[in-house]
Amino acid sequence: MSIFSKFDEIRTAFSALTENGRNPFDIRFEKIVSPTEAILDGRRILLFGTNNYLGLTFDQACVEASVNAIREAGTGTTGSRIANGTYSGHTKLEQEIASFYGRRSAMVFTTGYQANLGLISTLAGRGDHLLIDADSHASIYDACKLSSAEIIRFRHNDPNDLARRLRRLEGLPGSRIIVTEGLFSMLGDSAPLREIAAVKRETGAYLIVDEAHSMGVLGKHGRGLAEVAGVEADVDFVVGTFSKSLGAVGGFAVSDLPDFDLLRVVCRPYMFTASLPPAVIASVSAALRRVATDNLLGARVLSNSRRLYNGLAQAGFELGPEPSPIVAVKIGDRELAIKFWNALIDGGVYLNLALPPATPSSQSLIRSSVSAAHTEAQIDRAIAIITDTGYRLGVLNENDTRIAMPAAE
Ligand SMILES: Cc1ncc(COP(=O)(O)O)c(C=O)c1O
Repeated sequence: MSIFSKFDEIRTAFSALTENGRNPFDIRFEKIVSPTEAILDGRRILLFGTNNYLGLTFDQACVEASVNAIREAGTGTTGSRIANGTYSGHTKLEQEIASFYGRRSAMVFTTGYQANLGLISTLAGRGDHLLIDADSHASIYDACKLSSAEIIRFRHNDPNDLARRLRRLEGLPGSRIIVTEGLFSMLGDSAPLREIAAVKRETGAYLIVDEAHSMGVLGKHGRGLAEVAGVEADVDFVVGTFSKSLGAVGGFAVSDLPDFDLLRVVCRPYMFTASLPPAVIASVSAALRRVATDNLLGARVLSNSRRLYNGLAQAGFELGPEPSPIVAVKIGDRELAIKFWNALIDGGVYLNLALPPATPSSQSLIRSSVSAAHTEAQIDRAIAIITDTGYRLGVLNENDTRIAMPAAE
């Protein structure tokens, strides 16, 4: 028996996935033209599935800072944060992130995935109780696997269920740690943070909020959902990523707790991996400055999001529960979703195909992420292509409103 035979089922599912079209795990852009356009299969395509919320990947200040950093400090650090991999740029960026969030300390990780993996698995030790939202991102689930704590899932966005599960722990020793996301990555729905914060206060639990999809997007200062909900003081740890609004790669965690920096010598996903290269540190630092000083970017991504959400809702698609930069079209049938996704690319728009088990409630989704860099004309064109394809494939029916297709820009 081959060591790979345990993947036989996955092999079969994967063949079915690619039988009649592209491999969604192997999309290769021949050229990235701008934050909103690329060349794929020799044709220009609109990018509506990149998490490039603020469109900063080609921002001139970020690019210049990055290029200068390579010239000055080289292409990589060739070491971990606790050995030779901390340069003055890493420490400066940590101070900038702490100050952006108005917090005492920040730690920079090599990816957002590692920020969750490291923070959560290290904080939640043997005898502790980790309470995570059932629809949590894979990095949170993987942190649970690495942690020695008791893992308890509460129903998605259900503070009453969370409170009930915490009550069952009454009298038991160990810390209680609640983990939720700000905006959830698949459907773009927001956590009921005010209610969760109230449960946290009543039960004396710690609260971690992953603002991966909300940093730079939500809140007057771009600090995310906790800022909008007015509960920042209740959030003990904010986790985030540099790979979405900040247009690069990397992750971070911030906190006011005085012992937070102890994590630097106990958190293995921080300690035993190479640190971010100087070019990334420099572009993230420039991007963060932009977010801190330009709140028009956040306003633009939100108005663009409403335009896409309202356009698709009006056309008759079933969407996630609220307009947010993540706009997910629900397609009941897996095969239809695969066909739909392929046809959208043929039609000139790239979105993400999201299939179970990576999606909540085993739904098949065509997920888009909106950018501040999208023009209204690009959004209208995407709506028209998606709508037109929806009719052709029978996702929409005759009673739905048809929108005329505007010409390409
Ligand atoms: C909610 C959430 N947390 C963490 C991550 C991991 O971030 P990164 O891709 O930067 O490692 C993601 C990535 O998609 C995410 O959606």
